[in-house]
Amino acid sequence: MIKVAVLGYGTVGSGVVEVIESNNAEVSAKAGEEMHVGYILDLRDFPGDTYESLVIHDFNVILEDPEVSIVCEVMGGVGAAYQFTKQLLEAGKSVCTSNKELVAKHGAELLEIARDRKCSYMFEASVGGGIPVIRPITKALTAEKIEKITAILNGTTNYILTKMEKEGAGYGETLKKAQELGYAERNPEADVEGLDACRKVAILSSLMMGKNVDSGKIYTEGITKVGTADFDYAKAAGMTIKLLATSQALEDGSVLAMVTPALVPLEHPLSVVNDVYNGVFVRGNMLGDVMFYGRGAGKLPTASAVVSDVIDCARHIGRSSIVCIWDKEEARLADIEESRKRFFVRAKASAKEAAQGLFPGSSFVEAGRTEDIGFITEEMSEKEFTEKSRALGDALLGRIRLA
Ligand code: HSE
Repeated sequence: MIKVAVLGYGTVGSGVVEVIESNNAEVSAKAGEEMHVGYILDLRDFPGDTYESLVIHDFNVILEDPEVSIVCEVMGGVGAAYQFTKQLLEAGKSVCTSNKELVAKHGAELLEIARDRKCSYMFEASVGGGIPVIRPITKALTAEKIEKITAILNGTTNYILTKMEKEGAGYGETLKKAQELGYAERNPEADVEGLDACRKVAILSSLMMGKNVDSGKIYTEGITKVGTADFDYAKAAGMTIKLLATSQALEDGSVLAMVTPALVPLEHPLSVVNDVYNGVFVRGNMLGDVMFYGRGAGKLPTASAVVSDVIDCARHIGRSSIVCIWDKEEARLADIEESRKRFFVRAKASAKEAAQGLFPGSSFVEAGRTEDIGFITEEMSEKEFTEKSRALGDALLGRIRLA
């Protein structure tokens, strides 16, 4: 029998136990052996819970039990979760996680330990929740040189932007509604400021480059400055606004990665990824485009992805099932100031002539508004745009990059 331990009995942890025990026949058959949860580690007690008897508070019980060969780390954070994961891998136990913060920060090191100790460190659920994206990239697209990833990787912000677009509501009230419905955290900073998407695109970028992409060096902008006026112009221009995480392998060996709100044409497949759904658009040099779509968050979708990793580990007991290349060597990040794109600009109506002079060749967008103007520039570098837009002074009301 395969005895699995679960670290953290929160939303995802309880989902992992539910998936293993409710889908037990399927899970055990695919693992090749009967599988059950043996321990649940949490600081709290859960009186009355179906699995109350499995709850323990001492990590060493799991570490020292030779029958436990696979552990799910779903506690989050980079403190105890990092220490526990390291000790487990060093002891030859495989670890499966949904903890994107930990994977983004210490993925390369933990993968190296797992390989050395002939066990696995698996993180399918860390990007895109229930959407299979890590395994397809590392196991199915292995003949490809991945050139570019363009993705919607955060369910909370995608829900907020979708509601703002469809219902014309402002950012503040939409965030409040998302919190009431349990979609957004009480402290939504990591989501709305783009940090969550940044960690996820750092993981995808590291897999794309085969080297470590430091999430702290990825240019990141959240959605807090996106307003209803921007959606008026986006609609008039035949576009929508999404929080896009992008990563591109450049010819010089560097990687251009960023997380920013972007105007996305309605013809682009990512424009129809709405609500809490995520979408990951990957371009390979032989395959061309491929897209992954589904539930990017939530208890059971995320737990299902963790358990798929558990099954993978179960089929590779005594050896590593890791196939990805993610070296500790730091990937070189390209300077975004030199990257070129078009920009949507919103400015005070009084600045129209100045805008025409500063940004010749721009297309003005008619959105039936009198209080401001909106236009889309020609392609230029970030640096050039920043210099020119500075000349607009306080007449500049906002800018959003075009996808
Ligand atoms: N807060 C994350 C999101 C959860 O909204 O997508 C899944 O990582």
